[in-house]
Parts: sequence; structure tokens; C-alpha cells
Amino acid sequence: MRRIIALLLITVLSLGLAACGTSNNAESSKKDAPADSQADASGTEESSAFASEESQTASSNVLIAYFSVPEDVDTVDAVAGASIVIRDGEKLGNTEYVAKLIQETVGGDLFRIETTEDYPVEHDPLVDQAADEQDSDFRPELATHVENFEQYEYVFLGFPNWWGDMPMAVYSFLEEYDFGAKTIIPFITHGGSGASNTVDIISELQPGALMMGNELVLSRNDVAESEETVVEWAQGLGINAAVELPESGNGSTVLTAAADAHNSQTLYLWEEGNTPATTEYTQNNGNYSDDPDFRPYLVSFPVPEGAEVKGAVLICAGGAFQFRSDENEGTPVAEELASRGYQSFVVNYRLRPYTQEEGALDLARAVRFVRKNADVYGIDESDIAVMGFSAGGILAGEMLLNYDGLVNGTALDADYIPDTLDEVSADAAADGMIYSFYGRLSVGSTDVEMLRAGNLPPTFYCYGTRDPFYEQFLANADAAETAGVRVERLQLDGRPHGFGYREDWFDAYDSFLTDVFGGQ
Ligand SMILES: Cc1cc2nc3c(=O)[nH]c(=O)nc-3n(C[C@H](O)[C@H](O)[C@H](O)COP(=O)(O)O)c2cc1C
Repeated sequence: MRRIIALLLITVLSLGLAACGTSNNAESSKKDAPADSQADASGTEESSAFASEESQTASSNVLIAYFSVPEDVDTVDAVAGASIVIRDGEKLGNTEYVAKLIQETVGGDLFRIETTEDYPVEHDPLVDQAADEQDSDFRPELATHVENFEQYEYVFLGFPNWWGDMPMAVYSFLEEYDFGAKTIIPFITHGGSGASNTVDIISELQPGALMMGNELVLSRNDVAESEETVVEWAQGLGINAAVELPESGNGSTVLTAAADAHNSQTLYLWEEGNTPATTEYTQNNGNYSDDPDFRPYLVSFPVPEGAEVKGAVLICAGGAFQFRSDENEGTPVAEELASRGYQSFVVNYRLRPYTQEEGALDLARAVRFVRKNADVYGIDESDIAVMGFSAGGILAGEMLLNYDGLVNGTALDADYIPDTLDEVSADAAADGMIYSFYGRLSVGSTDVEMLRAGNLPPTFYCYGTRDPFYEQFLANADAAETAGVRVERLQLDGRPHGFGYREDWFDAYDSFLTDVFGGQ
């Protein structure tokens, strides 16, 4: 059927009657599908894929994966609106060109999704093949594979709209990897249909991944002139926000700095050479987001001057212990909570290859710092809460189950030398489990006795019904309740995993904290 429509379409195009819209939101229809006015052009130049530039770096957390088929059009005649862009004499596919601009803007690793069987570069056979593949729900075999996929926190995913859908090679790509809690940022080029419903399809294929809702949708008519748009869009994602860490030395750690309740501070959690650890991490083999010289640290977000201070909250962003999803679950959460009267602290705990236990000690250390400085922060020293998103919540749970009170780093590492901060309790008055649970990565605990033994504080659970871990949140919250924990639940209908600060759970969480702190 698609083939017939394609033939009809090409006929219509050759009569010069088709007009391709440029609306980003236009619904896809077969009428405007493979609308390429360059269909009859010919050319022999090899498609240049700047493949040689596509290398993967050990440290980048950004992957820019794209699929693009630069059609065989005459480079001399190529103009805006063709399926290619000529840049510095190089012939690039539309999506390929955008991918390159994104990479130049945010950095990261470029990755071209290629199939073992090349696609025809002539328009008609390409259109036919794409239609056939869609009709048979075919999965082309991929020739290129991402090394160390785990290292990436952000995956830009680019493709052309083909027949109101993603090219089937992009399905192969999405089905090859587990995106876990990564953030997927689609960028789509098209001939008039916009993104069709490809963004929803991606979300369905990778339900755990976070979709920021700010995909880039570009008409091919605009691609050649899109540099400013792409750069502005990519910059606006805030992905490049570099953290300014203090020079080590006096005043740079939670032990040596004077707490400041009015200005944001970034402080290392441990003194140099005295971090409790059981993991020996000396070399990054490319699998880890932090290098061995990473030192866990906190960032404070003070309550604005003049506002009533209600207490303190320490926040652990998630990211499957592979990264800390700060832009979604750290900084904006702390800013919101600070504006509501909570002295807020984002805790940048240790990730893999370190263990959940080692990371939990980082959080405990941060709690000690806040409690020690309760006077400075204008809070009652019992009004300190911890919270976390996904893996960050699991980490907070680990701390509350095993490393609060006066348990210090020696519990894990006999070589750790306790200091004066270790004389301060790491207890927390409340816990916030945002799409998270007490347990281990992907496994919520239902061990009532273990939860009871943890002497857990009141716990606020918030989760979406579309989250793949939904049932586990329910079971974990039930088990905690049976174990005598005061549990409060906020269920968000139809929400997936990873909504971060974007959903409105703040009101309920604020009331919960106000109530817990008020009742102490
Ligand atoms: C096989 C095929 C099917 C297409 N189907 C559509 C479509 O349904 N809707 C649309 O707006 N554009 C469609 N197009 C146009 C492409 O989306 C557009 O030219 C895109 O920018 C090509 O990107 P590329 O050069 O990176 O491959 C189609 C193009 C091809 C080759």
C-alpha cells in the first residue's frame, strides 16, 4: 500500500503539485511522506560520514547517536530542502549535519547508526525499501555498536522521519541497549510531518528512560540554515553545566569550612587521604563516569534571606549509580525546596565502581555537617531530612538502614580515621523516596524484619503508575508500613520513571516535611 502511495506521490511531485509544509507539529500522512523534490537528481559523490571523527572518549557522559541517509543528489544543485547539506565541501545527510552541530555545541561522542546492508541512496528505491521494512516490521542488522554504553547519561538520538515513523534501524538501535535511567533527547528532521509520534514510541520502547520533552524537530527545508537554532537549543538544555569544585586545602571540606547560610557553598565531604573505602579504584577503564580522583562533595542551596526556615533536606539525585542526574533531580529540586524554606544540599556521592555502602557514607557525612551547623543554618538539629531519586533514594535508604546514628567510616574501612564530625549523629528525621525504595538497584526489599531493624524515619514515597518499578514501590511501601514505618504515598497517574523536578510532588512533600518536623 505504501509503495503505491509512494509511486502516486512521486508522480504528483513530478507534476510539481506537492508542497511540503514546515510545521513542526503537522501530523504525518502518507501524502506528504517521502516528499523529496530532489528525486530525479543524480550525483556520484560518496556520502561523507565524518566517520573518522566518531570516536568515543572515556570520560564523556553524552552520546550523540544518529541515523541518516544522505541521498544521491547533485551536490552542485543541492539547495536548502534537499536531503543533504553541503558543509565545507562535505556532503552530509540532514540529520547527520544536525548531529555534528550538537556535538560541536555540547561535546560528547558522535555515533552513526549504520546497518550491515547499505540503504539505496537513490530516492525511489530508498522510499520503497523503507516502506517494505515498515510493513514487515523489519529490524535491520546494525553494523556499528556503542562501546561502553553504560558511561552515558545523555543520549541524543537523531533520525529522519520516514513514513511518519522512525527508520527501522532506529528500532534496532533502541532495542539493542538498555537505556536504564538515561535521558534521551530526540532530534528529528522531516519533510513536513514533524516528529509524528516518534517521541512516544521511543518512550514506550525505553520506559525507564527520561524524555525531557524538549526534542528538536527540524524541517529539512530549514536544516541548511539551522545552525543558530540548533546551537541555541543545545545550549538551552543545560547539559554542559560544569561544576566548579574548590581547590583542595583549608576551608574546602565540610570539616574545615565555616558553614555559610546565605551563599551557596561547594565542599568536599572527606579530608584528602581519609575517605572510607573498600573499593580500590585507580584507573578508569571507560566504564565509569567519575575518574579515580573524584572526591564526593555537597553543594548547598540556602533559603533566601528573610524567608522562614523550616528545616534542612539533603538530596541525592539518581542515575543507576552510573551518574548523578543533577539537572533533573539535583539542582532544580534543591532550588525549589530552598524557596520553600528548606536549607537544601545536593550530595554528590560516589558512583560505581564504588558500592552503595561507600556512597551511603558520603551522605551520612553530609548529614553530620548540616547537623553540626544547625545553628548557623537556623534549624533545629532534629529537623534534617534526606531524600533521593531512584538510585539516590536507594542510597539514602542504605544510609538510614546501616550508616546513621554514630556509625562512622570504620564500619566499612578499618583504616578510616574518625574526626570530630564523626561525633555528630547522622540520623535523619524523614526520608523521601522519589520513584525509589529501600533495597538495592532494581530490587525493592520486602523484608519486613530488616526494615524494622533499620528503625526508619517517616518515609514519603512518590511514584508514577507507568514506572516499570511501580509494583515494587507498592510492595516496598507496604513492607515498610508493616515494619512500623510511617509511610505517606503520592501516586502520579500515568507518569513514568524519572520525572524529577518536573512533576508537582513538591506541595505534598512540603506538607509531609512540615508535619514531620512540626511533630518532633
Ligand atoms: C524513505 C523516506 C521516507 C520519508 N518519509 C517522510 C515522512 O513520512 N514525513 C516527512 O515529513 N518526511 C519524510 N521524508 C523526508 C525526510 O524525513 C527528510 O528528508 C529528512 O531530513 C532526511 O534526513 P537525512 O538526510 O538525515 O536522511 C522521508 C524521506 C525518505 C528518504
